[in-house]
Amino acid sequence: MDNYVRIFDTTLRDGEQSPGASLDAVEKLEIARQLARLGVDVIEAGFPITSPGDMDAVRRIAIEVGNARDACPEQSRRGKRVPIIAGLARANVKDIDAAWEAVRHAAHPRIHTFLATSDIHLEHKLKMTRDQVVQRVREMVAYAKHYCDDIEFSPEDAGRSDPEFLYRVLDVAIQSGATTLNIPDTVGYTTPEEFGALVAGIIKHTPGAARVVISVHCHNDLGLATANTLSAIRAGARQAEVTVNGIGERAGNTSLEEVVMALQTRHALFGLTTGIDTTQIARTSRLVSNYTGIPVQPNKAIVGANAFAHEAGIHQDGMLKHHLTYEIMRPETVGVAQSHLVLGKHSGRHAFQVRLGELGYQLNEADLNQAFQRFKELADKKKVVADADLAALIADEFYQPPEIFALEDIQVTCGRHGMPTATVRLRGPEGQSIVHAAVGTGPVDATYKAIDAIVQAENTLLEFSIHAVTEGIDALGEVSVRLQSHEAEPRTLGGHGADTDIIVASAKAYLAALNKLVAGKRDASALYMKQVFAEERNMDHVAGK
Ligand code: KIV
Ligand code: ZN
Repeated sequence: MDNYVRIFDTTLRDGEQSPGASLDAVEKLEIARQLARLGVDVIEAGFPITSPGDMDAVRRIAIEVGNARDACPEQSRRGKRVPIIAGLARANVKDIDAAWEAVRHAAHPRIHTFLATSDIHLEHKLKMTRDQVVQRVREMVAYAKHYCDDIEFSPEDAGRSDPEFLYRVLDVAIQSGATTLNIPDTVGYTTPEEFGALVAGIIKHTPGAARVVISVHCHNDLGLATANTLSAIRAGARQAEVTVNGIGERAGNTSLEEVVMALQTRHALFGLTTGIDTTQIARTSRLVSNYTGIPVQPNKAIVGANAFAHEAGIHQDGMLKHHLTYEIMRPETVGVAQSHLVLGKHSGRHAFQVRLGELGYQLNEADLNQAFQRFKELADKKKVVADADLAALIADEFYQPPEIFALEDIQVTCGRHGMPTATVRLRGPEGQSIVHAAVGTGPVDATYKAIDAIVQAENTLLEFSIHAVTEGIDALGEVSVRLQSHEAEPRTLGGHGADTDIIVASAKAYLAALNKLVAGKRDASALYMKQVFAEERNMDHVAGK
């Protein structure tokens, strides 16, 4: 049994199944690039049969992120190969064909196929007998194998399946060519002891189990996903399926950062390693949160805003005497350099570039100039610019959808007496300035009404959240929104924005989400298409066409 635990990230597949999370192809590509930087071993990029959009996104990721010629420089320097790109498929020919079509350009493609094995699923969902399930697994794993060497098979709802039947199905999957067997606790039902024992039993009783990698995939319905995953790893699993921030179907999946940091912090107990560059964790978490519009709860382990904050006097006193008193890992280890108050208005371009580089951002000349300009504006308002400010600034400036409508100006009046009023000026798709004023229940409501009157993309605001990036009254405010379009097939779209003025941040976040909505409707938008064409050209180039 090797002592390396493979990290299989399914943020872009199971994570995207989170209620309300929906990512477009450009956002998925950006997240996949960051996952490669983070050093995950496998990126499950999507479920290609489910929509042409998903097929396209997986294909782009396979070409641009999973291609040897596009190796992530940071990871190559560490001697790590580009990640395996996996596509999910039910155990049928059409799904497997689609998955292969999507992943085949990757240097290391994988087809991940699954079929349920619990009696509950067989009886109520599949209407299949156990023998039929065994036969289907035999045929479909072999079918996937004719395309690709690297095949993962998952017996869905394994946590509630009869172990004896599981051994039989898994044996057949190995005989048919599966190289990874993934054991999902699909409904988050098991406890750590049970799940560890299930995995130990599979390793012991499935013929050929020693020749394949045993993987686990846990859901968090009882809040036990990380505990179950760690228990299975102790029992011999060597691949953990996880998502960034633990997002995913219902209560979510095992969170990447928790498993990785548990293995690292308790190395003496586990004796296991991963290939993750942990200093990239905070940045990855922020990117995923910004793009999905799903905020991270403040007390979330590892990546929550309070994860390294010490409030109680007795704790602060201990920390001042020695950080080991109340800290089991250093914030820098996960890329949270909160104690760094680094730059101010006198800092030059070079210091700015160096600090960005230390934080993992490599910008080209034009982007650097743009970011420096924003930094100077911020430094004029704020005495010290912390690392968290820089991360928020970069996200606000560069992790945004194409601007079909752009915020030119905004002015609000509000207070206890009178009517909160916002006047908004946007630059429209043809470059024209459009001004509208509206009255609302508060300044944000008035702003959103004025924007709605200009953009005219009907929607319902599902979520609005705001938080201060750092401490202090001059802090940057970061806003995330999620909205649902009023279309025949409603879409849920997220947006984020940051500014020292929280009304401006709110307007930017709302516009970001609306721009995605409008871009989806107006495929002919010149700006959007320009970006898509540029990407297509780049993909053809990488694919050697
Ligand atoms: O939860 C689950 O069972 C899954 C499988 C497709 C692996 O997501
Ligand atoms: Zn799942």
